[in-house]
Amino acid sequence: MKNHAMNRAVDPKRVGMESYSSVKQADYTKEAAVYDLKRFSHEAGRFYAELTNQILFDLLQAKKGERILDLATGTGRVSVGLAEKGVSIFGVDLTWKMVEQAKGKAAGKGLQNISFHLANALQLPYKDNTFDKIVSIRFFHILPFEMQKAILQEVRRVLKPGGIFVVEFNSPFAGLFLWALRRDHLVIWPRQVRELFRGMTLVKKVGVMMPGLARIAKMNLDLGYSLGRRFDRFPFNHLCNQILIVARK
Ligand SMILES: C[S@@+](CC[C@H](N)C(=O)[O-])C[C@H]1O[C@@H](n2cnc3c(N)ncnc32)[C@H](O)[C@@H]1O
Repeated sequence: MKNHAMNRAVDPKRVGMESYSSVKQADYTKEAAVYDLKRFSHEAGRFYAELTNQILFDLLQAKKGERILDLATGTGRVSVGLAEKGVSIFGVDLTWKMVEQAKGKAAGKGLQNISFHLANALQLPYKDNTFDKIVSIRFFHILPFEMQKAILQEVRRVLKPGGIFVVEFNSPFAGLFLWALRRDHLVIWPRQVRELFRGMTLVKKVGVMMPGLARIAKMNLDLGYSLGRRFDRFPFNHLCNQILIVARK
């Protein structure tokens, strides 16, 4: 145990990841109070958030008594949304100010089926094989690939055998590759998917938000949801802005 801790302390990759985490923690501490307001209070943001939660709810097929983790829960946007639909869920995040928002939101809605923890995804405070399912939305795209791989190890450790991990990435094929050219916009390429999920079974890839869908939803909300759900499978999934990868341990 001691050796393990010492090895970690001198591992430059690990030190790099920990300092990267500190930068992100500082960013999100500043952003917490306006995080939801900036991204999800306008029509298009609300539509994306609700569409994602609907898709997640269907993918998770949560059963009574299951333990589900929302990794990098932030302001609890996803976990509170799922708890409102009846899912029992744990939210974990690195940034106290974000978790504070999440706790306030859950308390304001009187939700009892949700709880929050503060931790780095690189070192989750849970025993092996704890969770039946894990979700992670709008998190992996802010991480360098090496860090994604390290966090995947933790995910595999705390997930029960047979459990599923649902994780969102930006699709490189959205907008016909134009997004992939943006340096600030981290996408996942097929070879990275194979490397990241080695040792797990890829179950499916579900697309979220075809380009232009928010405009359609603005004109006709029901049509927006119906098209969003209909065009989420191959080959349209790859053309969507975000892609949800479902992998089984
Ligand atoms: C873009 S927000 C996404 C929040 C939420 N999942 C959502 O969809 O709204 C990214 C979150 O990742 C958290 N985060 C960043 N690095 C982390 C780490 N190493 N471990 C756990 N959480 C982390 C930040 O604090 C922030 O709340």
